[in-house]
Amino acid sequence: MPRKTLAAPGLDRRSGPSRARIRRMALRDVPPVSAMEAACFGAEAWPREAFRELLVAFAQARPSRGGLWVAEEPRSGEILGYVGVELSALRGEMDVINIGVAPERRRQGVGRLLLTWVLRHCRRQGVSLLWLRVRASNRSARAFYRRLGFEARGRFGAYYREPDEAAIIMAREMAPGPIYGRPGRETEGAA
Ligand SMILES: CC(C)(COP(=O)(O)OP(=O)(O)OC[C@H]1O[C@@H](n2cnc3c(N)ncnc32)[C@H](O)[C@@H]1OP(=O)(O)O)[C@@H](O)C(=O)NCCC(=O)NCCS
Repeated sequence: MPRKTLAAPGLDRRSGPSRARIRRMALRDVPPVSAMEAACFGAEAWPREAFRELLVAFAQARPSRGGLWVAEEPRSGEILGYVGVELSALRGEMDVINIGVAPERRRQGVGRLLLTWVLRHCRRQGVSLLWLRVRASNRSARAFYRRLGFEARGRFGAYYREPDEAAIIMAREMAPGPIYGRPGRETEGAA
């Protein structure tokens, strides 16, 4: 198991009724995380191997090319959600490659905790722009991202399959200022 994963510092933040902690995802987290991924994304879920391979690749990459983290309940160790980012092909920019929260733990601030962590991580890495893609019909995720300061920047037609659907491309600039609570624009740009 990569040492970096085990030694990653945790973060305590108020998250709904209980406290949640962010730490780096470890290989031992792959079974519960992939079960949560299946609950979040059904047929589109990443297979277990994808998490494993990415964890190993991220741990070996020099310089760092991305990371995966989990939010956990510190006393029970229950995993509440997960998030991943990867350096984009464009220098100085990153992509949110995955985020999911256990269905029974949603609307308790876990997603916000995870994404706020990612935003801080990006700032520390000197990343100027964070990108993501989201299914056009995923209204809850789009509302969530807007709440976290992302703006719609464009759309890729028929990007997703089964059902065929456009991806909305959203971005957040990492200008100095508050990380959480910046109102996002409601409108979509055109690609
Ligand atoms: C999107 C997701 C990660 C959000 O996680 P969460 O822990 O429920 O989000 P939070 O509780 O931190 O929400 C923060 C804010 O985002 C907004 N928000 C979150 N879910 C929302 C929803 N379903 N409808 C409208 N706004 C929502 C709200 O403003 C919320 O603040 P509030 O609860 O004080 O009103 C979660 O719904 C999820 O796992 N969805 C399935 C997987 C998915 O679609 N991932 C994104 C793929 S691109």
